[in-house]
Amino acid sequence: MSRLESFIRRLTAQREILDLICRDMQLGDGPVIELGLGNGRTYDHLRDRLPDRRIIAFDRVNAANLRSLPPEGDLILGEISETARAFAGIGAALVHADIGSGYDDLDELNLRWLPQVTVDMLAPGGIAASGVPLDHPDLSPLPLPEGIRPGRYFLYRRN
Ligand SMILES: C[S@@+](CC[C@H](N)C(=O)[O-])C[C@H]1O[C@@H](n2cnc3c(N)ncnc32)[C@H](O)[C@@H]1O
Repeated sequence: MSRLESFIRRLTAQREILDLICRDMQLGDGPVIELGLGNGRTYDHLRDRLPDRRIIAFDRVNAANLRSLPPEGDLILGEISETARAFAGIGAALVHADIGSGYDDLDELNLRWLPQVTVDMLAPGGIAASGVPLDHPDLSPLPLPEGIRPGRYFLYRRN
């Protein structure tokens, strides 16, 4: 499969999963956490689907399209492993983690802290969607939407 095809499949999986969550799942009252603002495409999608919800976005640097820039106070810059500590216990309804780099060795480093950071930010019963597996005893895997190959994206509920 070419990288273009793989990219399209990843973005399709993202859209299908985010739509499933926003449309069919009962989200709690807490904010949405977007880990990896990047260009802001998935942030913009979540904002469109959940217009009344506070979305707090994280990234190392701000590289977002100006049309996808979070409001003052809702963009947290720096290493997520450090900046997220201040948000532990925030009771998030949804954590969407899109911090993959496409390089296995770099992504491996994120796996050391990402599952715990996700659990710490989620309310009990909260949902996590991630481009990388989140192996944690407090996260139970949920079925993916039809047509999304297992391993392409990951969906969990916090116990
Ligand atoms: C695939 S891009 C995100 C794409 C974005 N969700 C979108 O739809 O436009 C991944 C982003 O995660 C950020 N990132 C990766 N690891 C990070 C870390 N440890 N701390 C902060 N940001 C990180 C990168 O800077 C990059 O902008």
